[in-house]
Amino acid sequence: MLELKSILVKYGKTVAVRKLSLSVNEGGFITILGANGAGKSSTLNAISGVVKIRGGEIDYKGEKINGLKPGEIAAKGIIQIPEGRRLFPLMTVEENLKMGAYLQKDKKRINEALEKVFVLFPVLKEKMHAKGRELSGGQQQMAAIARGIMALPEVLMFDEPSLGLSPLLRQQLAEKIKEINHDGVTVILVEQNARLGLMLANYGYVLENGDLTLQGKTSDLMLDDNVKKAYLGV
Ligand SMILES: Nc1ncnc2c1ncn2[C@@H]1O[C@H](COP(=O)(O)OP(=O)(O)OP(=O)(O)O)[C@@H](O)[C@H]1O
Ligand SMILES: [Mg+2]
Repeated sequence: MLELKSILVKYGKTVAVRKLSLSVNEGGFITILGANGAGKSSTLNAISGVVKIRGGEIDYKGEKINGLKPGEIAAKGIIQIPEGRRLFPLMTVEENLKMGAYLQKDKKRINEALEKVFVLFPVLKEKMHAKGRELSGGQQQMAAIARGIMALPEVLMFDEPSLGLSPLLRQQLAEKIKEINHDGVTVILVEQNARLGLMLANYGYVLENGDLTLQGKTSDLMLDDNVKKAYLGV
């Protein structure tokens, strides 16, 4: 469904991602793992069109999408939930959520999406009229994800959603991401928390300093000695 073919991302002379190829099937769930600066966010930004690739190609449903504007890529259903929460602090939760549906003209579909979000995150219905800044960290993370759902994504990309959450909230978040995938949304999950990524996804890619060093089924990666040593601390 989505395929990266030997993409190159550079910032000036710094190479952030080198000849990376990866793919995800419709309804699939992949994870991209790696330490600080490995090139994980750069990869997502390349897919969403926020950064231009300097080599290679990105195809979606057999059509080249690199070169399109971020808004055009989002309109195709590829939605990125950025690193950090980035809610509008002075807007209400409801207003924040509706921002996620800015490409949607059909009021009925917007309301359907809102209903979907409230089923997934009941707490956001209670907090509908609260300001973004009045939510707890965990609630803000849920709202940031909910805003992504409002765009009715086909592919949803998460950039370290578990960052800064307590183990309990991280577990709740994991359940929600699973639910979203079961609902038919293709998921790309970027995580420094390798345990979480490997637990949730079916297939994983490991980046080190911009290079793809390892890939495989997550059930195999979990048992890999290098992965265990470098990322699982066992
Ligand atoms: N806007 C930018 N300008 C210049 N260099 C950048 C920029 N964004 C990222 N880089 C560099 O590109 C490399 C990859 O960064 P990237 O943000 O993709 O890593 P990451 O895997 O997401 O790391 P983290 O886990 O810390 O978020 C790093 O060396 C980083 O310093
Ligand atoms: Mg990052």
